[in-house]
Formats: sequence, C-alpha cells, structure tokens
Amino acid sequence: MRIAVDAQRCQGHALCAVVAPDLFDLSEEDGHAVPWAAAVPAGREAEAEHAEAGCPERAVELES
Ligand code: F3S
Repeated sequence: MRIAVDAQRCQGHALCAVVAPDLFDLSEEDGHAVPWAAAVPAGREAEAEHAEAGCPERAVELES
C-alpha cells in the first residue's frame, strides 16, 4: 500500500499523526504531515486507513 499527503490540501490538523504516529512526521516548519515512507509497512494498513478517514481535509492518499 502506498501512502502520500497532498501538500496543497494538508492544513496541519495532525489527526493523522495522532492515530498513526509511526506513519507520519509533522514538519516543524509548518506542521504539515509527511509520510515516513512511501510504502505502508506490512501490518499497518488499518492505521493508514484510519488516518485517511480521519483527515478533515482529505489530504491522506492511499493506493493499494
Ligand atoms: Fe494534514 Fe490531514 Fe494530517 S490536514 S496534518 S494530513 S490530519
């Protein structure tokens, strides 16, 4: 599963990093989320899906 954050949509709500702290880093500069890696580690797919569903800006993008 591939994971990305749309930098144009992300507004730094940080909910993604709350539900999936091992999948996202938050920029110290602007608070925007950046995935730790382009691929979701095996077994962490559910966390990634929670992050996708919970982002109010729909900025988390998953691709199977
Ligand atoms: Fe950005 Fe959404 Fe996370 S706005 S910081 S991707 S919850």
